[in-house]
Amino acid sequence: MGPAFRRLLPYVLRYRRRFAIGLTCVVITTAIQLVSPWVLKYAIDDITRGATRQKLALYAALLVGVASVGAVFRFLMRRILIGASRDIEYDVRNAFFARLQQMPLGYYQARRTGDLMSRATNDLNAVRMMIGPAVMYSTNTILMFVVAIGIMLSIDTRLTLIALLPLPLVSISVKYFGSAIHKRFESIQAQLSDLSAVVQEALAGVRVVRAYNQEPHEIARFKAANAEYVRRNRVLIRLQGLFYPSLTLFLGFGAVLVLWLGSREVIRGRITLGEFVAFNGYLVMLSWPMIAFGWVTNILQRGMASWKRMLEVIDAVPAITDDHVTEAGRAAPLLGAIELRHLTFAYPGSGAPVLADVSLTVSAGQTVALVGATGSGKSTLISLLPRLHEPPPGTVLLDGIDVREIPLAALRGAIGFVPQEPFLFSDTIAANIGFGVHDEAPENRMRAAAAVARLDKDVEAFPAAYDTVVGERGITLSGGQKQRTALARAIMMDPRVLILDDALSAVDTYTEEEILARLRAVMRQRTAIIVAHRVSTVREADLICVLDKGRIVERGRHDDLVAHGGLYAALYRKQLLEEELAAS
Ligand SMILES: Nc1ncnc2c1ncn2[C@@H]1O[C@H](COP(=O)(O)OP(=O)(O)OP(=O)(O)O)[C@@H](O)[C@H]1O
Ligand SMILES: [Mg+2]
Repeated sequence: MGPAFRRLLPYVLRYRRRFAIGLTCVVITTAIQLVSPWVLKYAIDDITRGATRQKLALYAALLVGVASVGAVFRFLMRRILIGASRDIEYDVRNAFFARLQQMPLGYYQARRTGDLMSRATNDLNAVRMMIGPAVMYSTNTILMFVVAIGIMLSIDTRLTLIALLPLPLVSISVKYFGSAIHKRFESIQAQLSDLSAVVQEALAGVRVVRAYNQEPHEIARFKAANAEYVRRNRVLIRLQGLFYPSLTLFLGFGAVLVLWLGSREVIRGRITLGEFVAFNGYLVMLSWPMIAFGWVTNILQRGMASWKRMLEVIDAVPAITDDHVTEAGRAAPLLGAIELRHLTFAYPGSGAPVLADVSLTVSAGQTVALVGATGSGKSTLISLLPRLHEPPPGTVLLDGIDVREIPLAALRGAIGFVPQEPFLFSDTIAANIGFGVHDEAPENRMRAAAAVARLDKDVEAFPAAYDTVVGERGITLSGGQKQRTALARAIMMDPRVLILDDALSAVDTYTEEEILARLRAVMRQRTAIIVAHRVSTVREADLICVLDKGRIVERGRHDDLVAHGGLYAALYRKQLLEEELAAS
């Protein structure tokens, strides 16, 4: 029993009662299947002694009766076992998604959505086939095999042994083809993941694809991946195409021998005609288990391969957890004082540090602005506060407590975070604004948040106001509307700390001023960290920090920094000049 198999057991054992009942039905079904040839034997032997209308009717009725009862149990067995496999599929799918929700951002940077989707659908289906149909048919097969051979031996030992002569050939080919099929199947699943990833990317990036006229390129890329998928399937089909006929061929050898030798036994009177017919009936029955055996091993191998692919996700350890939570962290007042202590940070897997020896103290209620050239590390710095990426121990503190010691839910609940690229769900504007607030929030709070973000005047003009459904990722809104919806979402949470990552970049300067003025009113007593490229956004801040290549190179208030004549002053002069040029 492999470790992967053991990981599947808890899911299956949850439904052990149903499996027990279902497998009982399999036993009954198989037993009934095995009765038919026996009835046939009695019928033929009896009728050869003298056929009467009554006897014919009796045996016909008996055969129909046996078949009917068999059908009922066959129905029950399928319903119960396949139904249980659907329930297990449901549980596994939930576990899979729940784990995806726990994984930090870094996890997704190394993985493609299409690949994860493929695991959640195709691989899951292969796992279900293994738990349901494969278990059902293998029980059926093994039982049938053992009992049929037992009965055959009781009819004629020599004939049985002859009929089983091809068996070693069968098992050799099952073994050989089985592992070859398994390998092909794995490569097909991998390619299906690639194919899904191509589709997912082309659809997510539809705007760029259209704008750059890359439709032919995308179509070609898809075609290539698709062709490779078909090619790998062809290899599998070729293998399977060889596999099943060769099984039937081997079994056919046995059948020919049995017919030839068996009929001589009948002529010599060593077995009755009825026994001979029944014997052949069982032999035909055996060919199904042998073929099913190949099919079942196939499904089992596919299922295990897929289950391992799913386990890679289900067993992935979330890198950012509550493992370091302390009592002090749990009792943290979350007032909003922030401290960075000699913070040096590099993204895992990429060598050079993005932030180097950054120290900063922000008292609760202050507004701090971060400016700096693109790529200087602003987004990285603020992503460490809510632990979207994991900071080194003791470098990022909230109210004097290492953020790693504060429970994630409490930490993130205290921080309103507006990312650089706003993301909206394909839902109503109201639902998007209320996203971070779990309980039914009153409508007026949502409206107030929208008003602070100056979204209210836009929304009034929408056909269904706040109930307007925005397209996928908010595609039906303008860039500035999306940004302001994201801002309203953060304000709605009424956070202790508000972080805006260039969150007003797509808003005109006039509206920006309005928003900032309203924010100042609601953010009194709250800490704010504002990342921006425009001086107009940050000039009122209590403290402005200028980042350059991961270091804070200047800090102070607007006037001081302008007087200092460094990077900030240069930025300010440039923007003044631009404004003058625009005005003239
Ligand atoms: N997930 C990541 N993995 C590895 N490197 C990253 C990652 N995200 C950002 N970087 C690198 O870190 C550096 C700082 O990026 P960051 O996003 O913090 O810059 P920024 O100051 O926010 O820039 P901008 O003004 O353009 O938003 C860049 O050189 C970038 O290439
Ligand atoms: Mg950034």
